[in-house]
Amino acid sequence: MMNKRKCCSMIAARGVIVALTSLGAGCSTYVAPVENQDGGGDTSVGVEGAVSFAANIQPIFTTTCAGCHSPGGIADMAGIPTFLREGESYDMIVNVTSVQDDGLVLVVPGDSATSLLFQKVSSDSPPVGNRMPLFAPVLSDNEIKLIQDWIDQGAENN
Ligand code: HEC
Repeated sequence: MMNKRKCCSMIAARGVIVALTSLGAGCSTYVAPVENQDGGGDTSVGVEGAVSFAANIQPIFTTTCAGCHSPGGIADMAGIPTFLREGESYDMIVNVTSVQDDGLVLVVPGDSATSLLFQKVSSDSPPVGNRMPLFAPVLSDNEIKLIQDWIDQGAENN
């Protein structure tokens, strides 16, 4: 997978600057999934606005994040052990401390504003590292709102 140049920037992970372009033969051929651009698959919120982790949040992670956030993926290679594949993502993020800054928590139930994961998908200048998804178009407003509401509703494994 590591055979293209130019797609990677300097990445700060574990307090160290990792230049992915300098790893091995170059950089990943990662291409942003096209369906990400208008946030397909995320419109099935219940009438009361209750967000389901399984139905609304995991599909975003699976489509947009898990390619890098899996064993052997770019995030893993950069020292980020946050796997966002179905079945393991919840335990990897809720009440879990950031490996890049142990003063930050990835998902704080009930508090999206202080949740690093939310900050990283909603802000161009998160407190640590880059906006997510890295090297891909930003999430749609609807996807960002779903993640915000899911966290503010208690970040349940529902
Ligand atoms: C192209 C690969 C790539 C994609 C796609 C990607 N990430 Fe990342 N992610 C990284 C890398 C590399 C880091 C470490 C550097 C940084 O934070 O910028 C990281 C860091 C993170 C962190 C911080 C982990 C910690 O402990 O500090 C979170 C949270 C995160 N990503 C969430 C996501 C989410 C949610 C998505 C999908 C919306 C996503 N990422 C998509 C590569 C990726």
